[in-house]
Amino acid sequence: MKVLVVGGGGREHALIWKIAQSPKVTKIYAAPGNAGIAQLAECTPLKSDDIPGLLAFAKSKAIDLTLVGPEGPLSLGIVDEFTKAGLRVFGPSGKAAEIEASKQFSKDLMKKYHIPTAEYGVFTERAAAEAYVREKGAPIVVKADGLAAGKGVVVAETVEEAVKALDLIMGKKAFGAAGDRVVIEECLRGEEASFMAFSDGKTVVPMASSQDHKRVFDADKGPNTGGMGAYSPAPIVTKKLERKVMETIMVPTVRAMEKEGRLFKGVLYAGLMINDNEARVLEFNARFGDPETQPIMARLETDLIDIIEAILAGSLSKIDIKWKPDSAVCVVMASGGYPGNYEKGKVICGLENAAGVGSVSVFHAGTAFKDGKIVTDGGRVLGVTGLGPVVAAAIDNAYKGVREISFEGAHFRRDIGARALETGN
Ligand code: AMP
Ligand code: GLY
Repeated sequence: MKVLVVGGGGREHALIWKIAQSPKVTKIYAAPGNAGIAQLAECTPLKSDDIPGLLAFAKSKAIDLTLVGPEGPLSLGIVDEFTKAGLRVFGPSGKAAEIEASKQFSKDLMKKYHIPTAEYGVFTERAAAEAYVREKGAPIVVKADGLAAGKGVVVAETVEEAVKALDLIMGKKAFGAAGDRVVIEECLRGEEASFMAFSDGKTVVPMASSQDHKRVFDADKGPNTGGMGAYSPAPIVTKKLERKVMETIMVPTVRAMEKEGRLFKGVLYAGLMINDNEARVLEFNARFGDPETQPIMARLETDLIDIIEAILAGSLSKIDIKWKPDSAVCVVMASGGYPGNYEKGKVICGLENAAGVGSVSVFHAGTAFKDGKIVTDGGRVLGVTGLGPVVAAAIDNAYKGVREISFEGAHFRRDIGARALETGN
């Protein structure tokens, strides 16, 4: 089977690493891929949102199955276009991906179907938005409505901060058209977890639990990023809580999407806020999380291609998905300055040594080849992923890998997985 993977981040490297182990797969292409992916797949420089280009490529290479990593092409309807052309593709339709692409759509859906989430208001007028903020008081959360790469959210501790966020999003259009509409939410307190599930539109099967680390600095300080690390399992998601999340959130959401004529086939990701064993939804994503996918793939035993084929055939209920009992921890190494401005093109040293560390996989995100060397090419550069029988061992292995790698300006958090240690393993 020839497989095309759309995307070029750490998530896609982990997915490709996993499917490369499938006996069914003979050849992997990636668009655009990165320097790490290039060791397992043939990369084509097509951008992940160039849907006509990707379609022509898939046809010319007689691709049997396409996997879509990022939200951009999903919300642009890549799945609809490939399906129309008779190509097999894994992911939700454009209409179903709106659960991520429009916060208003997902909040209205949750309200209509009584799925637990924060109270909210939606505004297109700045004055009305500000009046709502003043009426509700702080803390309060201001979100740009559209896709903003995880950065269009401001958790404001004061009313002034919230008003400033409205200026930034609605006035200065810091996130472009995503700021034409804002969602303003009640601020939820608790601990966050990522809850991902496979869905064939009817059957919903949870993946192993995970948690990511959104803030740039240790102890959850500094601005939000795309994610500085992740681990699986997340001890806060007990078996009991998992059942509750499935019953009150995941299954009702998939049913709701079906009722709304937006059958959800793919990976449904709920960002949860957990407090006192109760979970509420912060956001939905219509795809695998990044970096959560790195530790999750490290733990997945079952052939991912078998799972995807079952989803496409609508027979997910017939497959038994197995996970390694081990823990996995992914430490993201980022460019100096990220999530703000950073330079690219720094030579990365020590990758081979890191690959030689036992139980470690180095997943590439923003990397490229230059003059025969692997160099930095993005904010998040690498996701060094360690596996171990307990979380402490997985943390140890991941940081052993990190210590082998260097590039100018590299920074990473030193406390990835620490919360899992506190909660017990
Ligand atoms: P989102 O993209 O909606 O998941 O928001 C990004 C991050 O902002 C989340 O991971 C939380 O850390 C924070 N956040 C979002 N919504 C809320 C909320 N209602 N209460 C508290 N924190 C929130
Ligand atoms: N790790 C957060 C996300 O993938 O959106």
